[in-house]
Amino acid sequence: MVDVLLGLQWGDEGKGKIVDYFAPKYDIIARFQGGPNAGHTLYVNGSKIVLHQIPSGIFHENAVNLIGSGVVLDAVTLKKEFDKVASFGVDGRKTLYVSERTHLILPTHRALDKASEVSKGNDKIGSTLKGIGPAYMDKTGRNGLRVGDLLDKNFTTQYIKLRLKHQRMLDSFGFNDDISEWEEEFFEAIEFMKSLKIVNGEYFINEQIRNGKKVLAEGAQGSMLDVDFGTFPFVTSSNTISAGVCTGLGIAPQKIKEVIGVTKAYCTRVGSGPFPTELHDETGERLRKIGNEFGATTGRPRRCGWIDLVALDFACMVNGVTQIVMTKSDVLDAFEELSVCTSYGINGTQQKAVPYQMSKLPIEPHYEHFQGWQTDITRIREHASLPAPMKQYIDYINRFLGVNVSYISNGPERDQIISVL
Ligand code: GDP
Ligand code: IMO
Ligand code: MG
Repeated sequence: MVDVLLGLQWGDEGKGKIVDYFAPKYDIIARFQGGPNAGHTLYVNGSKIVLHQIPSGIFHENAVNLIGSGVVLDAVTLKKEFDKVASFGVDGRKTLYVSERTHLILPTHRALDKASEVSKGNDKIGSTLKGIGPAYMDKTGRNGLRVGDLLDKNFTTQYIKLRLKHQRMLDSFGFNDDISEWEEEFFEAIEFMKSLKIVNGEYFINEQIRNGKKVLAEGAQGSMLDVDFGTFPFVTSSNTISAGVCTGLGIAPQKIKEVIGVTKAYCTRVGSGPFPTELHDETGERLRKIGNEFGATTGRPRRCGWIDLVALDFACMVNGVTQIVMTKSDVLDAFEELSVCTSYGINGTQQKAVPYQMSKLPIEPHYEHFQGWQTDITRIREHASLPAPMKQYIDYINRFLGVNVSYISNGPERDQIISVL
């Protein structure tokens, strides 16, 4: 049996914290897409850690963590992350498995990401510059190197061949940064990776499922960044939605049971692209300040705005969301009034559908307004104790989406979560 946990907005919904909270109920935590563009923040015994490549179940000894075939893997980041989790007393070697089909991010992929962004000028995607786009391009272009290849004695030859191709592309961009240091680190990390448990991810996970083990598939990024269904071209290069679990882990759709969608009680986006409910005023600034909205991977300030139910409804549809976890609800504690976007005004008409060319249309969000709860909710642990205006806010969202919020997160710490069930 497989449950999925993924982001419903533009990423950074708090997936890491929630996976860490749910992990004790599962035997395997598996990342199925994305790479080190992800930054998943966890609090372990009061100390903060941000994970980029390792699944967020790593702090639970009884769970196995799998980096699935659909992920793109930066060996250098992974190696550094092993040291980071080791400082928390966890030996990643014991419980982490890597699929041999997982594609590798090469130093030249990072260079190509940078060169491509620079060449786009004002139209840049605002990528994390981790080499994600170029690595997935080499996968679909049938050129990439995979984790299994690093065990091959011809790995360096294969690498040099691909590097030459990349060099010609970099030359055409006029990119001539020296990447020799990155390459040195890369080959050190490749050696390190040989000591890890490299497995056939598909047989590995399906056998566990057959044996009755429970899997939690951990999404990275968010549904509105999905390469097919997000705000193209301002998206990432993988399928972030629940369908990506099947292609990313090699499991069949009927194995999936719960699809747990995570949303903030408001909305953020980092990088370029459409964001209809973005606030360019003091309220947006207040959300960023109280919510500490700065990127976990790049440190960039996140753009902030009100919750967008049109986009959330779309995300629930394409994912088949069965329950919602609402995070960062405490960030709204001090607000006198809250707004919720319920339709888009486009060329004089109101609509409740996300248009395909969202990045080209002027969208005027229509809002319903709610009274704020103006109560500190961070110490509340029982649903019954939540302030009435907050329950009204959430009830409205439940009704609009036709899916219920089953957990409310009210702070970054592990125990700051309230079950609604
Ligand atoms: P992810 O990429 O979805 O895992 O999310 P990030 O880690 O990038 O960003 C979420 C941020 O919000 C992190 O700094 C978390 O520690 C923090 N966070 C998560 N849940 C809550 C919550 O309920 N309240 C508050 N105040 N912070 C939260
Ligand atoms: P987590 O898992 C928020 C955004 C980038 C950029 C676009 C493309 O922490 O939620 P990429 O590097 O993937 O080519 O960048 O996607 N982006 C994220 N935004 N959270 C993330 O991951 C993101 N991963 C990528 O900012 O706009
Ligand atoms: Mg993040």
